[in-house]
Amino acid sequence: MNRGVSTSLVKRFPDDFVWGTATSSYQIEGAASEGGRGPSIWDVFCATPGKVENGESGDVACDHYHRYEEDVKLMAEMGVRAYRFSISWSRIFSDGTASSFNQAGIDFYSRLIDCCLSNGIEPWVTLYHWDLPQNLQESIGGWLSEDISDLFAQYADVCFQHFGDRVTHWITVNEAWVVSILGHGQGVFAPGHVSNSEPYKVAHNLLLAHGKAVRVYREKYQTEQGGVIGITNNCDWREPLTESVEDKEAAQRALEFFLGWFADPIYLGDYPECMKANVGDRLPVISDEERELLLGSSDFFGLNHYTTMFAAHAGREVKKQAVYGNGGLSEDQQIDLSVDESWLKTDMQWAVVPWGCRKLLEWISDRYQNPPIYITENGCAYDDEIVDGVVDDQRRVDYYASYLNECANAIENGVNLKGYFAWSFMDNFEWASGYDKRFGIHHVDFSTGVRTPKNSAKWFKSLLRG
Ligand code: GAL
Repeated sequence: MNRGVSTSLVKRFPDDFVWGTATSSYQIEGAASEGGRGPSIWDVFCATPGKVENGESGDVACDHYHRYEEDVKLMAEMGVRAYRFSISWSRIFSDGTASSFNQAGIDFYSRLIDCCLSNGIEPWVTLYHWDLPQNLQESIGGWLSEDISDLFAQYADVCFQHFGDRVTHWITVNEAWVVSILGHGQGVFAPGHVSNSEPYKVAHNLLLAHGKAVRVYREKYQTEQGGVIGITNNCDWREPLTESVEDKEAAQRALEFFLGWFADPIYLGDYPECMKANVGDRLPVISDEERELLLGSSDFFGLNHYTTMFAAHAGREVKKQAVYGNGGLSEDQQIDLSVDESWLKTDMQWAVVPWGCRKLLEWISDRYQNPPIYITENGCAYDDEIVDGVVDDQRRVDYYASYLNECANAIENGVNLKGYFAWSFMDNFEWASGYDKRFGIHHVDFSTGVRTPKNSAKWFKSLLRG
C-alpha cells in the first residue's frame, strides 16, 4: 500500500528525468466534424455495428478540442513537465493528402502547443496514433499501399514546418504492432482486417513511413530546430514458463516477434532471424536502400508497456491466443502464453507484474546497446467512482508506485531510462472497449465533461514535489 508518497522514490530518478502524462487525438478530442477535420478510419470503424463496446465512438470523447486549456492547467497543477499528445492527420489534411490542407487544424494544435509552453509543459507530439484519414483507406488501401509512406512523410513535413519552432520532441508512429496485428491481423481495431499476411506488409510500410518522416526532419529541420525524433513501440514482458531451454527460447522468440519486429530494423538493420524463418515469404525483405533509411532512425527508444505473460514452447499444436493476449500471430510464433492466477489483474484483465517492466527495460538495453529510453505509456484501467468528490483509486496508486520502483531499479542496474509518461492524463475513449475502461489519473464524467483529479493525480503531485 502506498497511501503516502515515499520521498525516496523520486530521488532515485535523475534530476533531468522527464515526467509526463499522455493521451491521443481520437481518444480525447471529440469535435469530430468541427474545424475542418475529415473522417478517419476510427470514425468508420465505430459506426460499424458490433465493433466497439456499446456502439460508442470518439465523436465527443473528452471534448479536449474545446477544453484543452483546462486540461493543460490540470497537468501544470500536478507538476508534470511534459504532455504527450497526438495530431490527427485528418485535421491537418482532411483527406490525407496535401491538397486538402486545413489551416483550422494547424491553428488548433498551435494553440494547444502555446498553451502547454505558457504553462511550463513541454509538448511531445506523436504524428500517428491510429486515426488514418478514411480517404487514404478507401482510395489506396491505407497502410497496405506502397504509396502510404510518402504521404505520411508529406504530412509530417507540414507538421514540422508549422510546429517545429516550438516542438522539440517528436514521435513518428505509436505502436506499429497494434496497427499491424489488431488492425490487420485480428481485425479488432480499425480498419478491421483479418489476415495472416497483411500485418507483415503493414508493419513494413509503417517502418518506412517512420524512416521517411525522420529523413525529412533530419534533412530540413533538425539542425535548425534542435529537436529529437523517434518511434514508440509497445511490448509486454515474456517470462519463460519453465527453466527449460525450449521455454527460454520461446520467451526470447516472443519478444523478438513483438518488439524486435520493429526495433531490430531500426537498431540492427534487419528483421529478427526467427521471424524470417517462421514467416517465410509473407515477411517483406528489407532492401539495402531501406536498411539505410531505417538503421539509426530513432534518436530515442519510445516504449509503451503494460503487462507480462509467461511464454512456453508450443510445438505444432499452438493455441490461437485471445485477442487481448497480445500474442500476435501466435501460429507463426509456436508459443503458448499464460499468466499466474495469483497475479492481480486490471480491468483490461492485464496482469500487474512490475518486475516484468524492469526485465523488459534490461532486455532492450542489452539488445540495442543501451539506448536512451522513454516510457511513453504505462498505466492501468480500473473502474473508479467518485464518492463525495473523491476518487480513491488506490489500486492505480499501487500500480504506479510499484512500476516506478522497478524503473528506478532498472536505472540503478544501468538502463538509460530518461522519462516516464503516465497513461493516461484522463479517462477517455479506450478504442474497442469504448468508455468502459478508465485509464485516467483524472476522472471524466462523460455526460457533463467534468474532470476530477483522482487520488493517483494527487499522488503524482506529491511525488513530483519530493
Ligand atoms: C496503448 C495505446 C493507447 C491506450 C493504451 C491502453 O496500446 O497506445 O492509445 O489505449 O494502450 O489500452
